[in-house]
Amino acid sequence: ATDLTGRSFLRELDFTAEEFRSLVALAAELKAAKKAGTEVQRLRGRNIALIFEKTSTRTRCAFEVAAADQGASTTYLDPSGSQMGHKESAKDTARVLGRMFDGIEYRGDSQATVEELAAHAGVPVFNGLTDDWHPTQMLADVLTVVEHTTKPLEQVVFAYLGDARFNMGNSYLITGALLGMDIRIVAPRAYWPAEHIVDEARRLARESGARITLTEEVHVGVRDADFVATDVWVSMGEPKTVWGERIATLAPYAVTSEVLAATGNPDVVFLHCLPAFHDLGTEVGRQIHESHGLTSLEVTDEVFESPHSAVFDQAENRLHTIKAVLVATLAGPATGAAVSG
Ligand code: CP
Ligand code: NVA
Repeated sequence: ATDLTGRSFLRELDFTAEEFRSLVALAAELKAAKKAGTEVQRLRGRNIALIFEKTSTRTRCAFEVAAADQGASTTYLDPSGSQMGHKESAKDTARVLGRMFDGIEYRGDSQATVEELAAHAGVPVFNGLTDDWHPTQMLADVLTVVEHTTKPLEQVVFAYLGDARFNMGNSYLITGALLGMDIRIVAPRAYWPAEHIVDEARRLARESGARITLTEEVHVGVRDADFVATDVWVSMGEPKTVWGERIATLAPYAVTSEVLAATGNPDVVFLHCLPAFHDLGTEVGRQIHESHGLTSLEVTDEVFESPHSAVFDQAENRLHTIKAVLVATLAGPATGAAVSG
């Protein structure tokens, strides 16, 4: 079996395709065990630090519930409640937390910070989202894909629409390339992932057999898609002033019922990492409605609430996949016998 003991997860490529798949398989096992009431705790006595410099619902809750299910404890640190970044460097913070904790999760802007933590903590560090990558989300999304298709991953057509320069676009391109999928980035050219990421994806594709498409044409990009995914048009940490430009540029890339129909696939599945802007029930929703007269952005309410939408399965899978990461990296190569009983 694959042994990931002591490993960090800072970006998708920290794992081979085989290791990545083994985590998805472990998540499926853990999910089934939890539902059957047969889950075995393999992380008793472990302590996990959760550093969140940006807000979170799913990622924080997934880490906390996964740890609790497995018998581990968590400590939540937010920027206002810790010294990190104000009075203490990431390097020193890593060396302190590494003395107390068995693992550290970090969410913030900078990929360099999570890498700095991992370089100095001496314990596994997990990227809970940076501007560049969202690797734990990719595990959840691949588990959701596996659950919603009968095809092997190498035959799955996955189209991502919207701003692809940020964490979700980058992560989908690289994950699809790693796992040999038919992965399509459908966005205006200026919103495609950076050239070095596209180059990396093409290199991976030569090994995995993945098909990589970057296109501005929605109908071309979504044709025959098994999955259509999107993300918010303005990410955490971006200034509000970009809304106007984003709406003007990305409006043709909104996931509507017409876009799902253009796949030609009556069973197409819609995915969104969430949070999503599809109604007026949020503060940002009301603001956008007032300033631009729009009632939805990246996805219509109709698609979001349709039987095509698997977004809440996807959200639930954050729990099972993050639990898989914790168990695989922190439980030890046996079955946690040293800490159980
Ligand atoms: N998808 C995701 O990472 O959600 P949160 O921001 O709520 O953690
Ligand atoms: N791109 C989004 C993803 C949120 C999970 C953001 O970074 O805000």
